[in-house]
Order: sequence, then structure tokens, then C-alpha cells
Amino acid sequence: MAEPLRIAVLASGRGSNLGALIEAQRNGVLPVHFVGVFSDRADCGALALARGNDIPALALSPADFPDRRAYDEALFSRIEAVQPDLIACAGYMRLISEECVRRWRGKMINIHPSLLPAYPGLRTHARALAAGDREHGASVHCVIPELDAGAVLSQARLAVLPGEDAESLARRVLEREHPLLVQTVRAIALGDLDVSTTPPRFRGAALGSPLVLSDAGQLEQATC
Ligand code: GRF
Repeated sequence: MAEPLRIAVLASGRGSNLGALIEAQRNGVLPVHFVGVFSDRADCGALALARGNDIPALALSPADFPDRRAYDEALFSRIEAVQPDLIACAGYMRLISEECVRRWRGKMINIHPSLLPAYPGLRTHARALAAGDREHGASVHCVIPELDAGAVLSQARLAVLPGEDAESLARRVLEREHPLLVQTVRAIALGDLDVSTTPPRFRGAALGSPLVLSDAGQLEQATC
């Protein structure tokens, strides 16, 4: 059997996406080996979750470094030491310096709570509601130096409910983020999805549009 994909996770917050990955790995759905969870916040839920699951966990505080570049050099040298095949940013709330992004290009993905290219950056749910959007969702994309702008690999779409607020929308999107991230990492781990090329390739063919998470929780090719 092929070696499991070595995955490192970057997170700053509660870590529910990390939790979904861990659960899927434990259930035999996700053939990965967690080589480490890394954070800019020593007190975050994601690190506690990692430690509770015997995954190496490390936080470095940005306050201990003179600038972003120095911080990222230190953090990414620790990541490099555990030799991940893939780095998944799952709620990592810091910009990453261009040098590090370039070094890991083709090996780093991020989950973002909007239907990219709509709403890069923060407050995506409130912005979608303010614009009167009927659909919202989440995307997994390749990380490039421009914020939330790399090739979109997969998306989960959902209808905005009449009268709902940003909190409700965020909760419903998050529920879909978990299977979206698990299935996307699974496709990479199985070799179906190749993120090392531009454009990425799915089952040998260039990915023309993002894969779509079906209601049954599977990734499917978009139908036009
Ligand atoms: C998610 O909404 C993710 O898309 C965004 O930050 C949030 C992280 O949530 N980038 P969690 O820490 O995984 O629960």
C-alpha cells in the first residue's frame, strides 16, 4: 500500500476543520499522517486538539520576531523539518510571506469561507448578505502570494435562507467546510487531485472549474 500523505496543518483558531480531518483519518476515510499542527497562537483550540490526539503541536508567537519574514522563516523551518507532502491552512489567520509561499507553492492549500473569487479576506458571510447574494459557500484553493487568489480546487455551495444573519450563515457554511476539506485532502492523498501543477489536474485532466461537493458529501466535476 502507498505511504499515507504527510500533512501539516496551520491553524489559529478553534480547529473544527482540523477536527474533521483527524476524525476522517481515525475512521479510515483519509489516508494521511499528521506530521504536525503549527500555530501563531499558543492558546488556540487547534493546538489543544492536536495534543489531545498525539499530533506534534507547535506555536511560535509573532511578538518574538522582528518582522513577518523572520517569523515565517522560523515557523516554516520547523515545518520543513517534519517534511510534509502537503500543508493545509485551516483557519490560519496570518498572511504568509511571499518567500515562504513561493517555496511551498504546489504543496499548500487553504480553506476559505466564500465562493472564490468572491469575497477574499475577512467578514465573508456579512459581505455576501449585504450584497444580497442568493448563494454562498466555501472554497479550497492553492496558496499563492496574492491573498485567497490561487486556483480554486473545490467548492461547497449553499442557498442563503431568507432573513438569515451572518452568524447562521457562517454556521451552515462551516458544516459544509468540514466534508469539503476532508474530501479535497482525500482526493490529493489518493492521487486523484494533483495540486503541484498549474492548473491543477483531476484524474489526469486539467481542472477547468472547481470540483463541487455534492449533497452526499462527495466531490464531483461541475456540469455546465
Ligand atoms: C473557517 O471558516 C475557515 O474557512 C476560515 O477560518 C475558519 C476556521 O474555523 N479560514 P476552524 O478553526 O477550523 O473551526
